[in-house]
Amino acid sequence: MGANLSSPCGVYPGTFDPPTLGHVDIIHRALGLFPRVVVGVSPNPKKGPLFDVKERIALLQEATAGLPNLTVLPFDGLMVDFARRVGGTVIVRGIRTASDMAFEFQMAMMNRRLSGGMETVFLMPGEHHTYITSSLIREVARCGGSVSGLVPPCVAARLKGERFA
Ligand code: COA
Repeated sequence: MGANLSSPCGVYPGTFDPPTLGHVDIIHRALGLFPRVVVGVSPNPKKGPLFDVKERIALLQEATAGLPNLTVLPFDGLMVDFARRVGGTVIVRGIRTASDMAFEFQMAMMNRRLSGGMETVFLMPGEHHTYITSSLIREVARCGGSVSGLVPPCVAARLKGERFA
């Protein structure tokens, strides 16, 4: 039961379609808490993603290049199974506003039950990142607005080259 604190590893799962500076902020904070962090990228087809998993991983890797002790991997199925496979001991999720909490609380409880005790820690991004979501970024980019300063430069460049349907 509970987190294995002898060899802690944070697992940060998400859709990352696309990764934002808010996500990168959470990754930095997680690396400050855990000696090893694994980012798990879910295909999440129900969200109708703009970028495929390979591309989201490549963008995350470019946005976090040079950060030590960080791995970015795809995952399908339950996040707790993925966490176990990669030796993860704690799930990391970002909380931007109080309204994120209701859903995150349910997910954390379900994950704890499914995993037999794996804990979730919630990290808050810097306040200038609290209003960013990937859908908002996609919408602004689709309408020709600037997303610079909200996403890593590689994501801004990639969105500029995107032909939106
Ligand atoms: N900065 C900016 N945006 C952030 C953010 C941050 N720090 N933290 C979250 N967000 C945004 C995301 O961009 C995303 O925006 P969007 O809805 O517009 O796309 C939204 O908040 C939530 O995204 P994310 O944290 O990626 O979660 P998700 O709900 O898209 O993905 C999974 C959830 C993939 C982790 C979850 O569905 C999963 O694990 N599925 C596998 C099955 C499973 O195990 N389910 C849980 C059982 S309890």
